[in-house]
Amino acid sequence: MELPRVHQPVMVTEVLEALAVKPDGIYLDGTVGSGGHARAIASRLRTGMLIGLDCDPNALEVARVQLQEFADRVTLVHANFAQLDRVLDELNIRSVDGILLDLGVSLTQLDTAERGLSFRLEGPLDMRLDPTQELTAADLVNSLAEHELIKIFRDYGEERWAARIAKNIVRERRAHPIETTIDLVKIIERSIPAAVRYRSRIHPATRVFQALRIAVNNELENLQTALTVGLERLAPGGRLVVISFHSLEDRIVKRFFREQLKASRAEQIWGPVRPSSEECAQNPRARSAKLRALLRA
Ligand SMILES: C[S@@+](CC[C@H](N)C(=O)[O-])C[C@H]1O[C@@H](n2cnc3c(N)ncnc32)[C@H](O)[C@@H]1O
Repeated sequence: MELPRVHQPVMVTEVLEALAVKPDGIYLDGTVGSGGHARAIASRLRTGMLIGLDCDPNALEVARVQLQEFADRVTLVHANFAQLDRVLDELNIRSVDGILLDLGVSLTQLDTAERGLSFRLEGPLDMRLDPTQELTAADLVNSLAEHELIKIFRDYGEERWAARIAKNIVRERRAHPIETTIDLVKIIERSIPAAVRYRSRIHPATRVFQALRIAVNNELENLQTALTVGLERLAPGGRLVVISFHSLEDRIVKRFFREQLKASRAEQIWGPVRPSSEECAQNPRARSAKLRALLRA
């Protein structure tokens, strides 16, 4: 069995620059993951504080070890970033100086077969980032109507072959439930014409897996909520920094930031900033990263 790869934080220098960490500031990392960005932020704090959230309790365990030497200034909480309001209320914190959202999944999650997030590894069709949540990808794949599956594959995956894939899923599940990642990959492969598959630069299951993950974890709505609530909890002059990895996320961030600038709730916005070619060569996952930042008026 292959061991999960170690997650490398992307664009650390750019994140620090965008957050302009103050030694006495209060920062919220909404996606603490393996704690890479959080370490970089915490090491710049003196009397300040960092609150790290993750909806995956396993990620928090890793972060706790990674951030051990900064335990005096770091508070880790198992929560969805859409609930950052409640978390700050419970900690009696009115406003923060900076918020970071490094969206998506970590390599550790992707490489853990039992999470069902990878189309390369055989595992249960799960895809929950928060394992305390009930709904799994298998629930969606085995119970949604054909037209609902098509909508998810189109809206969240921009999948051209959505209708054929959904039709084959519905046909297959009449015989037996679709339970594993590889069961689904085989159906997808059968649904896309061979010539198209051979020409494509990405794995044929990429878009459907992205779409199901977004749907299972309610990712786009949670992002929208976190942006809205996060901005309200930023102190004047505070910064909101978001790294996105696909166009659906980036579109939401770009639109939200522009609206805030227009409404004078933001003083300035930056981005998209892309990682350097050196970073992309060294960490292939960085290639699709886009950083945007906002300065609260
Ligand atoms: C790309 S990784 C973050 C890596 C982290 N910045 C680091 O340096 O290690 C994304 C993390 O965000 C978490 N996550 C994704 N959506 C979330 C949400 N809505 N609320 C809280 N955590 C979330 C995932 O569980 C994952 O651990």
